[in-house]
Amino acid sequence: MISDSDNASISKPDLSVNVGGIRMKNPVTTASGTFGFGPEYAPYIDLNRLGAIVVKGTTLEPRAGNPTPRLVETPAGVLNSIGLQNPGVEHFIDEALPYLAGFDVPVIVNISGDTLEDYAGLAARLSRAGGVAGLEVNISCPNVKKGGMQFGGDPAMAAEVTRAVKENSELPVVVKLSPNVTSIAAVAEKVAEAGADAISLINTLLGMSVDIKTRRPILGNTMGGLSGPAVRPVAVRMVWQVYQAVKLPIIGMGGIATAADALEFILAGATAVAIGTANFVNPRATIDVLEGIEKYLSENGVGDIKELIGAAHG
Ligand SMILES: Cc1cc2nc3c(=O)[nH]c(=O)nc-3n(C[C@H](O)[C@H](O)[C@H](O)COP(=O)(O)O)c2cc1C
Repeated sequence: MISDSDNASISKPDLSVNVGGIRMKNPVTTASGTFGFGPEYAPYIDLNRLGAIVVKGTTLEPRAGNPTPRLVETPAGVLNSIGLQNPGVEHFIDEALPYLAGFDVPVIVNISGDTLEDYAGLAARLSRAGGVAGLEVNISCPNVKKGGMQFGGDPAMAAEVTRAVKENSELPVVVKLSPNVTSIAAVAEKVAEAGADAISLINTLLGMSVDIKTRRPILGNTMGGLSGPAVRPVAVRMVWQVYQAVKLPIIGMGGIATAADALEFILAGATAVAIGTANFVNPRATIDVLEGIEKYLSENGVGDIKELIGAAHG
């Protein structure tokens, strides 16, 4: 005879999460710039199974990106200096959004700009477009008005960008933090005060590589961003610190390739996780991570993923 408790143990665990108003059926999403606008991965996975899709970084005007070479492999990841190559927000709205609307998955648009006005303009335009579940604000790009300094490197400027986006949009706003700072918690606190609905981290770590034959930097842009397994312990540490500093939901990323990696982030405080560089190695990485999380919950008798968020803090 099957008792009620037996039924409970065989029922599927609840994987749903809410990231600052973005309702996701499971915590697995994509990291911006590593998943295009979606169709690139449709031959390999069912996009409908994802918790959300975070698309390639979008700017007001189309951008050609940085000079080549733009990618260098490292022992445990990649260095990239793509430089936000993208077709611009109007092209995104006309061509990519209608395709993405065909899936039952929240679409989060990653936005970048050189000035506060750029961010404000993108927020306003995307809010009117329809079919956008949230904005992810990339503050790791240089502010040309301040001599190329990153918005994300200065807590006060990070807050200004957050405010500019919030004032121009009703959509949930996820602010994506740069790890190239002394205190990630200080930036998170300012961004939270400015009204962010959620935080995502980490973006890439500034790095470079030199060719010993030519005796010159390899990347066309000299420096680039390091991602992949090499950055994972740094990312887990930063999720841990931000979880302690602010009360906002966190999308954690940086070197996640397996369910075990993703669970580390969730236990450290992430509500959701994004898969980036791993997609280049294994285009099914998102689904492998999702299935692995489900298996872990079932095997360990965890009925709801939310029980694990921040559980490592005791
Ligand atoms: C080729 C490439 C392009 C990226 N483009 C963007 C981007 O446009 N906007 C952004 O916020 N992050 C961008 N990122 C950073 C990723 O979204 C992610 O934060 C970072 O790679 C760490 O995760 P991972 O180690 O799983 O790749 C890019 C990363 C890579 C490797």
